[in-house]
Amino acid sequence: MNKIKTGIEGLDKALQGGIPEGNIVLISGGAGTGKSTLCLQILVNSAKSGEKSLYISTEQTREEIGRMAENFGWNLNDLEKKNLFEMHYFDTLGGSANLLRDMKAIITKFKPKRIVIDSLTTLTDGLLVSDLSESKEFSVVQVAESLNPVPRSDKLVTKALLYALIKALKKFKITTIMTTELFQEDKQLSADGVSEFIADGIIVLFSLGIAGSNSEALRVAKMRYTDHLKSYLPFSITDKGVDINPDSGTDILMK
Ligand SMILES: Nc1ncnc2c1ncn2[C@@H]1O[C@H](COP(=O)(O)OP(=O)(O)OP(=O)(O)O)[C@@H](O)[C@H]1O
Ligand SMILES: [Mg+2]
Repeated sequence: MNKIKTGIEGLDKALQGGIPEGNIVLISGGAGTGKSTLCLQILVNSAKSGEKSLYISTEQTREEIGRMAENFGWNLNDLEKKNLFEMHYFDTLGGSANLLRDMKAIITKFKPKRIVIDSLTTLTDGLLVSDLSESKEFSVVQVAESLNPVPRSDKLVTKALLYALIKALKKFKITTIMTTELFQEDKQLSADGVSEFIADGIIVLFSLGIAGSNSEALRVAKMRYTDHLKSYLPFSITDKGVDINPDSGTDILMK
């Protein structure tokens, strides 16, 4: 199995070399836990190693992502000039029509090896509120009806949508990372409670308040086609991005 290095030493070690190529991986976590930073860092590392990398954001514009990159000393302009990095912003809740068709066109044209979708939560919310009747391949109604006679519900429609999206992404055989929002008290591992079962891998980011101080930890909850560390790995965000101690594999106390 070919592994894709994330370029983050502690994470690659926890994954025994990296993410198995072609896997669809969720990065779940609460607001501000570092999901976008981790995604951008992995893409910048892969672009720097010569792999075409695509960042699709439904939450931050190119300018905002650029500001984020600058904060960590990553030069997106340079990678874009070399045709190794592309970033596209979709205003999903503002009613971007044919979102998935547009995404597919970008992928077909740029031919990336890695994709980030930040975030899956806004994307599926956007798809649920927009009229998908034009986009036959991903029509919510069409997919949901194929599941009859089960009664339609938001969860069922989301599930059908995610299946369609993930199936389409798998066809491209591109390693894909998608973020999803999670509240600390959630028992499920993704915002929709569905994609955690469909995805090949899940990395959960936690913000822990221990003894009055804040600390962050990360856990690989699932990664198909490889063995991996299952313990909580403390990490920090510095002016160089996400930093995970490669030797931190010990369990830390959780509530
Ligand atoms: N230079 C820096 N040094 C240390 N920490 C930083 C630095 N820059 C950003 N951070 C931290 O990173 C956090 C933001 O991370 P990021 O935007 O990746 O989170 P997120 O999980 O994507 O958030 P959201 O849910 O809002 O999308 C900030 O809240 C801040 O704590
Ligand atoms: Mg974010």
